[in-house]
Amino acid sequence: MSVDVIPWAQRPDARLILVLSSERSGSTLLRYTLGAHSRLVSPSEMFLMRYPDYDAWRTRKSVAIDSLLEFFDMVGHPKSTEELDSIFATREIADVYRMLFDFLPERGILVDKTPAYANEISTLDRSRPLMPYYIWLIRHPLGVIDSHLRIKDREKQERAAEGSLPRRLLSPFTGVIRRLNGSREALARKREAKWVQQNQNIRRFLETVPHDQQVSLYFEDLVIGPEEIVPALCKMMGLEIEPGLLQFQGSRPSMNPHLGDPNFHTHKQIDSTPAYDWAERMREDWLMPHTKQLMKELDVRFLPEEAARQRTTA
Ligand code: A3P
Repeated sequence: MSVDVIPWAQRPDARLILVLSSERSGSTLLRYTLGAHSRLVSPSEMFLMRYPDYDAWRTRKSVAIDSLLEFFDMVGHPKSTEELDSIFATREIADVYRMLFDFLPERGILVDKTPAYANEISTLDRSRPLMPYYIWLIRHPLGVIDSHLRIKDREKQERAAEGSLPRRLLSPFTGVIRRLNGSREALARKREAKWVQQNQNIRRFLETVPHDQQVSLYFEDLVIGPEEIVPALCKMMGLEIEPGLLQFQGSRPSMNPHLGDPNFHTHKQIDSTPAYDWAERMREDWLMPHTKQLMKELDVRFLPEEAARQRTTA
């Protein structure tokens, strides 16, 4: 970086950080960690950028009103849903963001982490005029797939437990039945394809964004070495390093599963176990060749013995 470039967070128009990732990549953890910084306001998933205007967002993603209400609570201007509708109705989405910036404290920055932004490049393009800083959070695809499958298994079990007596009796075996009929494999492949698509979209988009407006971050590094990674991230953005950033204390709220990680409140601290615990259940050689190719291009770390095999087959 040249010496006369002002770091992003020190510019007067620095108002928005977008966290881009595939779902299940640790984005709630990152949002929560960043939210401990005195300049950052970091509500649950907002989904705003996916829609051209406020009215489309309200109609097509009604659950996300909770995130907007949370934002206003956080900045000390609590509002009702009716008030929000009357303030923002008919506004284009970029204007909605600009109006939100006006409610931030002096030098405040909104952190908007919504993994679904990576689904379409048009969503990412919509963010451009707001000059955000982009944090690209990358997790090993098997970590993402494993997390996704565990959530789906649990949802099925919960549904079966709530259902009729025959379904309840079958519920302990539904995982096995699905494994036998192959639908679990199909679910995993679908999730793999989504990981590829989303990360390709992010990469294509960020290729067009100035370097001093973006950083990429690996989930595994974040959870294994948060003491180095979080201050380094702040430094990259031009944010002051604050002592309280890694104090992961107190009880965390349980998330609305539509707006963040439903298991987030179960973690007592930043935990390194999820970095590679998928390796007990899954193997990298299961991944499609094009997924492994993208992993290499994105510098996603393979497990050591798999890395050696990848080198010999490359
Ligand atoms: P699992 O709980 O299924 O393992 P996202 O917020 O993007 O949906 O990502 C959720 C994943 O982040 C979790 O998936 C978990 O792996 C990881 N995660 C959440 N809280 C964490 C913490 N305190 N420490 C380490 N990893 C965490």
